[in-house]
Amino acid sequence: MDLFRKKSLDSATAPEGEIHGGEKLGRHLSVRDLTFFGIAAIIGAGSFSSMGTACFNGGPGVVLLFIMCGVACGFTALCYAEFAARVPVSGSAYTYAYVSFGELFAWIIGWALLMEYSIGNIYVAFSWSGYFTNLLDGFGLHLPAWSTINYTAAHKAFLGGVAGEGTTAWSNAPKLGDLRIIFDLPAVVINALITWLVYVGVKESRNASNMMVVAKLAVIVLVIVVGATYVDIDNWTPWMPNGFGGVMAGVSAVFFAYIGFDAVSTLAEESRDPQRDLPRGMVLSLVICTLIYILLALVLTGMVSYDQLGVSDPLAEVFALRGVKWMLFIVSFVAVVAMTSVMLVFQLGQPRIWMSMSRDGLLPKRFASIHPKYRTPGFSTIVTGLVVGIPIFFTDENFILDFTSIGTLFAFVLVCGGVLMLPRRERTPGRFHLPFINSRWTAPGSLLAIVALLSINVPTYFPGLLDLSGDHAAQNIPQLVFWPLCVVVVILAHLKQWSLIPVLGLISCCYLLTGMAVSNWLWFGVWLVIGLLCYFAYGYTHSKLGTA
Ligand code: ALA
Repeated sequence: MDLFRKKSLDSATAPEGEIHGGEKLGRHLSVRDLTFFGIAAIIGAGSFSSMGTACFNGGPGVVLLFIMCGVACGFTALCYAEFAARVPVSGSAYTYAYVSFGELFAWIIGWALLMEYSIGNIYVAFSWSGYFTNLLDGFGLHLPAWSTINYTAAHKAFLGGVAGEGTTAWSNAPKLGDLRIIFDLPAVVINALITWLVYVGVKESRNASNMMVVAKLAVIVLVIVVGATYVDIDNWTPWMPNGFGGVMAGVSAVFFAYIGFDAVSTLAEESRDPQRDLPRGMVLSLVICTLIYILLALVLTGMVSYDQLGVSDPLAEVFALRGVKWMLFIVSFVAVVAMTSVMLVFQLGQPRIWMSMSRDGLLPKRFASIHPKYRTPGFSTIVTGLVVGIPIFFTDENFILDFTSIGTLFAFVLVCGGVLMLPRRERTPGRFHLPFINSRWTAPGSLLAIVALLSINVPTYFPGLLDLSGDHAAQNIPQLVFWPLCVVVVILAHLKQWSLIPVLGLISCCYLLTGMAVSNWLWFGVWLVIGLLCYFAYGYTHSKLGTA
C-alpha cells in the first residue's frame, strides 16, 4: 500500500490541457485583483464580530494576540507564496501537500481545508445575518425572532432561561407537528445568493468583490480615524486584566480574523501570471490587514472599557456607547458588505480545491466538471452551497468558530512543514523566492533566548506547566505537548540546516494551536477519522497515481 505516493512537481504544473483534459478556467486576474481578493477574504466576521469577545476576554492586551497571529500568518503566507510560485495550479495547500508529503497528507489537508472554506463560511453567514437584521431594524423592518436565529441557539437560550431573542424565538415559533420552525433566514438567503453569483462566473464575482473591498477599506479607515478621536488612554489600563491566559482565550476569534489570505492561492489558474502575482497578492493583503487590525484593536479598547466589548457587533457597539449615532448605520451597512465579500471568496475557493482533488482521482469526476457556458466548476459550486447551507439550520456559531480555526491552523502547519521538504531550486527572474536564512544556529539561538526571557520575566511559567489540577489541565496539557515538539523541530532544523522562515511558521502556528480547547481537539480528531474513512473507501483506489 503506497499511502505517500507523491505527485511530481512537473506533473502538478504541466500544461492544463495535459492534466485537466483540456478544460480551462478563464485567466482574468491581475495582482491588484488578487490583493483585493485577499482583503475581501480576510476582513469580515473576525473584525466585525468575533473581535469583541477576544477584547472582552483579553482586554487591551489582545493587541499582542493580533501581532502574534499576524506574525504566524506572515511566515505561513511566505511559505504559501513559495509553493504558489512553484506549483501554480488551483488546489492551494492541497496540491502543495501532494508534491511534498504525498497523497495521504494531501487528502488530509484537503479535508482540513473544507473546514476553513465551507465551515468557516457558516460562521460568516451567521454574523452577516446579525448585522443585516440590525440594519433592517434601523429601517423599522422587523423580522420575527424565529427567522433570525438558528435552532440550537434558540433552544439553548430557552433551556438556560436567558431572556432575549433566543427565548422569544422559541416561544413564538410556528410549529409543524411538534417541531418548532426556527432558522436563520437571512443566513440561508445570503448563502443561496453567493452560490449563484459564484456559479455564473469569476469575472462577475471579481467585479462585485473589488467594489465591496473598496467600500470596506474606506469604512474601516473611517472607524479608526473617527474612533481615535474618542480614545481615552485610561481604558488601556489594566493592559491584560485576565493575564496572558485571558489574551490567549481569544485565539480562535483573532486567528479567524486572519483566515483568507491563503484563499488567493486557489485562484492560480485564473490569474494572469501566477508565479509572480500570487505571492505578491497574498503577502500584500496580509500586511495591509495586519496593520488595520492592530489599529482597530487599539481604537476599540481605547474607546470604551474592555468589559463592554463582549457583544457580537463590537464595531457598532463602541459608537453606540459613545453616542456617535451617525456611525452606526455606516458600520452596520459596511459590515454586511464586508462579510458578503468574505463569503464570496471562500465560496470561490472551495470548489477549486475539490476540482483539483477530483482531477487527481481522489473525488468523483463530476467535481471537476466545468460549466460549458460560465466556465466555472458548476457542480462543485453547488455542492459547496449545500455544505454551507444545510448546517446553517442546526449548528452553533461558537463551535463553528473554534472548529474552523483548528482546521485552518492544522493546514498551515502542514504547509510550513511542506516547504521544508521541497528541494532547493535556482533563482528564476520574475518569480517569487522564499529568502533563505539558515536555521542551523538561528533556530536554537532563538529558542534559547525565548526560554531565557520567559524564565527571567515569568519565573512561574515553566514550573506552573506541571500543575495539572482542575482547570489548569486544559491550559497546560497543550503546552506540555508544544515545548518538547518545539525542541525536536529545532534540533532537526539544526541538523538539516532548514530554512528559518518555514521553521518559524511551523512553530508559531503550533503555538497558536495550544490555545484551542481540548474538547475541540476531540471533535477535530473525529472529523479526521471520517476523512480517512472516505479516503480509503474512494480516493485510494481511484487515485490517478494508483491507476496510472
Ligand atoms: N477572516 C475572515 C473573516 O473574518 C474569515 O470573516
